[in-house]
Amino acid sequence: MGYIQNANMKYSNFYFVLKLNLWYTEDCGFDYITNESGYFTVKKIVCDSYEDVCSYAADIYAAQLKDKPDSVLGLATGSTPVGLYKELSRRYSKGEIDFSKAESFNLDEYYPIDPKHPQSYDYFMRENLFDKINMSKFQIPNGGAPDPIAECTRYDSEIDKAGGIDLMLLGIGLNGHIGFNEPAVSYPAGTYLVNLTESSIEANSRFFGPGEHQPVTALTMGIGHIFKSRKVLLLISGAAKADITKKLFEGKIHTDIPACFLLLHPNVTVIVDKAANGE
Ligand code: GLP
Repeated sequence: MGYIQNANMKYSNFYFVLKLNLWYTEDCGFDYITNESGYFTVKKIVCDSYEDVCSYAADIYAAQLKDKPDSVLGLATGSTPVGLYKELSRRYSKGEIDFSKAESFNLDEYYPIDPKHPQSYDYFMRENLFDKINMSKFQIPNGGAPDPIAECTRYDSEIDKAGGIDLMLLGIGLNGHIGFNEPAVSYPAGTYLVNLTESSIEANSRFFGPGEHQPVTALTMGIGHIFKSRKVLLLISGAAKADITKKLFEGKIHTDIPACFLLLHPNVTVIVDKAANGE
């Protein structure tokens, strides 16, 4: 690793440094993080607990759908959003939130996998959210498509047809991945077929039974779709994520920590619990 010195340096040696200022408000739950020249501002919210993270995030969804009922939502899988989905389902059942005009696109899906497979993200989303709310238009990359490249092109055109994503939900992998954009020297903008890293395969092996086939490739939205999203909401929970959270807020844009690119997006809110914040 080294500082960028000339444009011909290899990307693997590429990162640049953004000096961060933290401003603590009276309400100690909020930090606004910006670099000195104001090129980026990330809103960071530190919550006491995972439950508070989910409830805060649900408030953001409620406000988004109130403001724009036909919002296009980008959705994520993994353990982190489970509590948010539970809270959204609860609020829907109490008549507090309405998804009837909204539509969604999921970030990623294993490939190849039968969408009906219990470990598919398709199955996960139905179980955790879609079967519990009144959103009728939702899309997930098809892990069963015969041609993955054609599926990526189809998925991109569906996102474009919907007008892009209004609110993109993200979790973060232990290695800094967002969606399945794994640490790499360069990133496709659109949806693509990716080889999963050992770290992600290992992290997700907990969902697969002994001897059960675990896919080692996936279809994921590229960095471009995430970047074109009008707002981004990143949720981080648990002590295991404290290291990557610290790296994310160091203010250096590393190509090998994909989540760092979010520091350059104009409208990002990161909600962390104290454990992930290293407290
Ligand atoms: C997964 C997903 C990501 C998710 C990440 C973290 O494999 N592809 O979208 O954000 O890993 O998952 P978890 O929330 O379980 O830590």
